Amino acid sequence: MYKDKLEKAKSLIDNLEYIKAENILRELYLSYPKNVYVAFELGKVYFFQNNFIESRKLFFQTKNCNELAVHSMLFLAKITIKEKKYHEAIDMLLLVKEKYGNKLEVLYELSKLYSFLQDDKNLLSIYNEIIEIDRNNVDIKFKKFELLHKKSETIEECLFYAEELIKNQNIGIKQKNSLLNFIEYSTKKSLLKSLPQNLSVAVTGACNIDCLMCTAYKSSWVLSEKTKNEIIELLPYLYNIKWLGGEPLLYKDLSRLMDIANENNVQQHLVTNGLLLNENIIRKIIDYNVFMQVSVDAPNKSLYEYIRKGASFKNLLDNFELFNKFTKNKEYHFCLNCVILDENYKILDDIIKFAAKFNFTDVSFIMKDNTNCYSKEILSYISQNLNLYYGIANEYDIKINSVLFEVLKKTNIKKINTEKVNNSLFCIIPWLSFCIIPPGIVTADCACSLRSLGLQEGKSIFEVWNDRHGSIVSRIVLVFRIVPGAAETRPVVVEQ
Ligand SMILES: C[S@@+](CC[C@H](N)C(=O)[O-])C[C@H]1O[C@@H](n2cnc3c(N)ncnc32)[C@H](O)[C@@H]1O
Ligand code: SF4
Repeated sequence: MYKDKLEKAKSLIDNLEYIKAENILRELYLSYPKNVYVAFELGKVYFFQNNFIESRKLFFQTKNCNELAVHSMLFLAKITIKEKKYHEAIDMLLLVKEKYGNKLEVLYELSKLYSFLQDDKNLLSIYNEIIEIDRNNVDIKFKKFELLHKKSETIEECLFYAEELIKNQNIGIKQKNSLLNFIEYSTKKSLLKSLPQNLSVAVTGACNIDCLMCTAYKSSWVLSEKTKNEIIELLPYLYNIKWLGGEPLLYKDLSRLMDIANENNVQQHLVTNGLLLNENIIRKIIDYNVFMQVSVDAPNKSLYEYIRKGASFKNLLDNFELFNKFTKNKEYHFCLNCVILDENYKILDDIIKFAAKFNFTDVSFIMKDNTNCYSKEILSYISQNLNLYYGIANEYDIKINSVLFEVLKKTNIKKINTEKVNNSLFCIIPWLSFCIIPPGIVTADCACSLRSLGLQEGKSIFEVWNDRHGSIVSRIVLVFRIVPGAAETRPVVVEQ
């Protein structure tokens, strides 16, 4: 009888029916308080319900049972991770490893932690240990490739590894394309057999508002049916797709394209002014874990409506409240985009506080026109306040992304030296990415000034990718000489 109930509770847990499972298990636990199997399942239920206090008590009870020790310790480590005590969690997992040998579950958890903490040395040794046990695991082999790839000094080793791995029968379509892509740019090929790994698409030139700093080509232009179908064809190869505009939420087929991108396991990014969000699209954004970037630029009504002409601050706040209702108790990352302007540079601290109020996890401070066009006064103001910005961000657990801030952190910089190059490519974006901006212009990245007429001439994405007037020209230019304005050469001059 007790066993039947326990089995029933386990299958409810498998079906994510935690409340029903909890009811059965609590009753069992009252009758059998010393039964470790009941305690363990109840601990799991509490863990999945984010009740870590009760969960921890139960796993402490079960960790001394040999059969349940490894999994109990694993859950205790996961609770410690939730509390953001990463190094303590690593110590716990290493202890389990020492005591019970190399268990795959423990190694996987350690690899996630080392990866999060960017501890590449330990990560590499854990990957090697996993591969020793699980020799057919191509995913880990691919991650090992990515890790080797990160370290430029291991390029020869990485090329050798990639050439071996690409022959593996079990390798996925995205991974195979990525390996081929790597082999091609490492050997400086201009004509590629591989396809892009990342795509940015302005789906329409239309916009519902008219921001004072916007340089986007605003028009009634929309993605053609032909290009839309080519994007769908490309999705199985892609790691990332970024939906841009104009205002992307005005495009009638965005929702369908998002469905197909999700079916193809593509990480989606959406850059939006946030004014057209509604329940349907919010559900989709959250379900598909789309990384949404909402452009705000000001934390108060008067300045917001001055910069974002035609927008309603109230409408924006209502949408944030609706969005927050759906993300409550969910681990969801989204970003506030703010273009640094003459009008807002003195209130960047308030913008971070505003982001915190609406539960944003990231704030991007974007350079106007993607270049440094700021006066000495603005640069020194921001420079003097960097500690304040990072302090507030830290307080609210917000991540700041900003090329300008990164540069200003380093003192006495006159100019980022783009002339100093060694034999390796200084920018590989034209090998990895393809970007479509209205009205069908093609570039490697929306901030890259190497542009071609691209799709305007009726060509397909696949043609332009290897066309001497399209992407190929950027690659040739990058292989042979430095071009100011290419994607990764946006020098920031800080006048002294
Ligand atoms: C052109 S908009 C398109 C998406 C959407 N309409 C929006 O506003 O988010 C893409 C991003 O570019 C930013 N942006 C607008 N004008 C800019 C400029 N002059 N320089 C750099 N970024 C700019 C916007 O704030 C937004 O984050
Ligand atoms: S909402 Fe976006 S596309 Fe529209 S004007 Fe503003 S920045 Fe430009």
